[in-house]
Amino acid sequence: MSKQQGIFDLTELKGKIAIVTGAGNNGIGWGLCKHAAGHLGMHVVAMDLHKNLVDSAQQRLQRAYPAVKVLGIACDVTKPEELAAALSAIEAFFPNSEIGAVFANAGTLFNKTILKSSIDEWATTLNVNVLGVVNTIQAFLPKMQLSETGSIFCTTASVGGLVRGDGGTASYQASKHAVVSLTESLSFEIARRSPQIRVHVLCPCIVESALPTNSKTNAQEESGEINANDIQPSSTPTIDFAMTTENHAQQVFDLIAANKFYLLTDNVRPYVNHDYPFEALKIVRERMENMSDLTLDNAGAFPTEPGDTKTSTLTGAMFREARKRKTPAAK
Ligand SMILES: NC(=O)c1ccc[n+]([C@@H]2O[C@H](COP(=O)([O-])OP(=O)(O)OC[C@H]3O[C@@H](n4cnc5c(N)ncnc54)[C@H](O)[C@@H]3O)[C@@H](O)[C@H]2O)c1
Repeated sequence: MSKQQGIFDLTELKGKIAIVTGAGNNGIGWGLCKHAAGHLGMHVVAMDLHKNLVDSAQQRLQRAYPAVKVLGIACDVTKPEELAAALSAIEAFFPNSEIGAVFANAGTLFNKTILKSSIDEWATTLNVNVLGVVNTIQAFLPKMQLSETGSIFCTTASVGGLVRGDGGTASYQASKHAVVSLTESLSFEIARRSPQIRVHVLCPCIVESALPTNSKTNAQEESGEINANDIQPSSTPTIDFAMTTENHAQQVFDLIAANKFYLLTDNVRPYVNHDYPFEALKIVRERMENMSDLTLDNAGAFPTEPGDTKTSTLTGAMFREARKRKTPAAK
């Protein structure tokens, strides 16, 4: 029986549509849009919450990649009716093109412990990160199943969806574990019926983005503190040891082409220009070893050096080097 579907020739994607949610803020989704248009010759649909963001994405992408067609759609992934309307808009705008890739990438993060998170923050996190992915699958997958040519359905989880729960981002980690699990289920569910659709779960480590700021902005807009018309695409902060969104997108498509299901995009050469990886696989293995012993090791909650972060997962070379340099550890 086949484990997966074999090496994927990405040139098959040329002229097809790449749909990317959470693409309006110069983060991971933005990088995927640029790669799809610029390297793969795909038409692109950039989706995000606010009209300003997607209009800007559409204009910038169309200017940079005139050979392909670009559409920006304002769409809240927690609302199935908005995703259904997005599919209709895509069908009308691209009457002769098939969907080649969907990246269910929109996400939100509140950096708080369980006791300090409000239930509203938990609800938003689970609604966007988990149900938003489910809604995106339900909106686009049936259409993709009608085509017999190869395509990609990729959800965005996080390395946090593969490692053990840690201090500070409990709701985020829990949501990303759910994304990993539901994407494994999706892969299994359609393995026989729709083998032409390759399912992947993206588990990034540290990529340049303004995710915490954007999450706060969106929450403020939701509560009426700021007006959606005033929201502009965020500028991307420089984060120590982070991968650029362009290099990250290259790694994503390299892993897809190589037939990997878990797109664990660690901060390694040639995608970064340093030798301080996150060491994600090491931490995943430690978790698996603990699980096979039925134990949980909380040693990370007792840091030995003053000022050290309490963590069981931010322990790789990247974080050791950040501590040595006394720069803030990457998020
Ligand atoms: N940057 C990293 O290091 C990193 C690491 C692991 C996982 N991730 C994941 O990558 C994905 C992209 O994040 P990013 O870091 O590029 O930050 P980002 O802020 O650029 O992207 C997230 C986008 O999702 C959008 N969004 C939020 N709620 C939405 C909703 N209801 N409907 C539609 N869009 C919505 C936001 O407006 C934002 O543009 C997220 O799922 C995030 O959890 C990022």
